[in-house]
Amino acid sequence: RRFVILISGRGSNMQQIIEQARAQGWPAQFVRVIANEADAPGIAWAKQQGLQTAVVPHRDFTDRQAFDEHLAQIIEADRPDYVLLAGFMRILTPGFVARFKHRLINIHPSLLPAFPGLKTHEQAIAAGVGWHGCTVHFVTDQLDHGPIIAQAAVPVKDNDTPQVLANRVLKLEHQIYPRVVQWLAQGLVQVNQVGQITLEGIT
Ligand code: GRF
Repeated sequence: RRFVILISGRGSNMQQIIEQARAQGWPAQFVRVIANEADAPGIAWAKQQGLQTAVVPHRDFTDRQAFDEHLAQIIEADRPDYVLLAGFMRILTPGFVARFKHRLINIHPSLLPAFPGLKTHEQAIAAGVGWHGCTVHFVTDQLDHGPIIAQAAVPVKDNDTPQVLANRVLKLEHQIYPRVVQWLAQGLVQVNQVGQITLEGIT
């Protein structure tokens, strides 16, 4: 299956996905990496790897609709089966989400439905929760609320700073996002019209 990956920055999730796919030989082709920031370090890495890249700077567009339309056209030219958001820091319009219905995946650094939005590690510490983590989910119109494919949890420790907690969560992001991409590549993830997910043969 064909994947396009969208990033905004470091791209460590993207890197893990691509490296694990290569090492383990999943039937996955990463047809393009797209960033909305020209200086995203992840774009430099992708180029070094010989991957196709594109930069679509959101600031060049008058509004979200225009940005999303252009982005969608670039993505569609590569005919991906799935579009992976990996630290992509732009909210996508309902039109864009509809165009890629059940083909658009995101990783969010919290145990959804807890702590949608930004600064999730700060939110978790402030709330005093004992467990935090990350979620891979299908993207819907409602930010950080789509059908959940996989989650992983870590303990929150007494003296955690947001940075320390973020690093603990990131290690798990690097396990579960590649795992989900493997399942997608192997055609094991089914989602029905009401958004219920079946993972075939995965226990
Ligand atoms: C990750 O924590 C992701 O969950 C969040 O932004 C971070 C991106 O990191 N949305 P990277 O670009 O994959 O290194």
